[in-house]
Amino acid sequence: MDKKTVLEAGVRAIQEAAPDFAPDLAIILGSGLGSLADRVEKVAVLPYDQIPGFKPSTAPYHAGRLILGRLAGKNVAVMQGRLHYYEGYTMSEVTDPIRIIALWGVKRIILTNAAGGVNQTFARGDLMLITDHIKLFTESPARGKENHLFGPRFFDMTETYSVSMGHVLRKAARKQGIHLREGVYMFFPGPQYETPAEIRMARVLGADAVGMSTVPEAIVARQMGLKTLGVSLISNLAAGMPGQTQITEEEVAETGAAAAERFCALIETAVELLPPAGTEE
Ligand code: HPA
Repeated sequence: MDKKTVLEAGVRAIQEAAPDFAPDLAIILGSGLGSLADRVEKVAVLPYDQIPGFKPSTAPYHAGRLILGRLAGKNVAVMQGRLHYYEGYTMSEVTDPIRIIALWGVKRIILTNAAGGVNQTFARGDLMLITDHIKLFTESPARGKENHLFGPRFFDMTETYSVSMGHVLRKAARKQGIHLREGVYMFFPGPQYETPAEIRMARVLGADAVGMSTVPEAIVARQMGLKTLGVSLISNLAAGMPGQTQITEEEVAETGAAAAERFCALIETAVELLPPAGTEE
């Protein structure tokens, strides 16, 4: 089957599961942040193996299901668990769910992740608005034969992270009494965490946080004309930083669990404050 056929079959599988459901936005939940899905009043739940174009999620703490339902007065499509490049998937496979969601009609997406803090003023447990990203070395998910279904071949990345959605997140943080950090997220392919030297490099280049997800999705979202909001939970300080001796997936998960309440409140409030679909500028 060619790509177009697979993606269109993916869209159909979602439509058939919830024929009258018009999505206002999509949300992708990062490592340890899956509990937001519990707050969704569910209309349909689709395990990824029931959606053509979605690969099984093999990462820890990534449930691997698409949840359609109501959250804070909006129709949301929540990916509880994402696909990562380090799982062995191609960049294209990692981002096909974004293409399917976009072809289905979603215009806005919230990408969340757990990330290592590189900025020396950050602390474990901080929440960060992603204002921009850096991706070096790893191939682009947009690489490949030109396909107009995916958007233009060459596309601008100046406002990959929507300024207006960023304002909404700041407002949500104020409302929740959350001290929101802001910064640049740098993509590393993983699955190994970075070396201290790589983290020093990242800081010199302008990164505030590092992680193994989000950037491929943000690139494809941009190509397909979606507005993106990115939010990182600083689950640990990055390698070699004062007090950081060993990064483990347990630390990442523990911070996720400890921050779940604040994270969910922030995202839920942002969803509530977002303008209704179709009315934003
Ligand atoms: N590095 C890369 N990815 C991560 C980290 C990190 O320190 N923490 C959580 N995801």
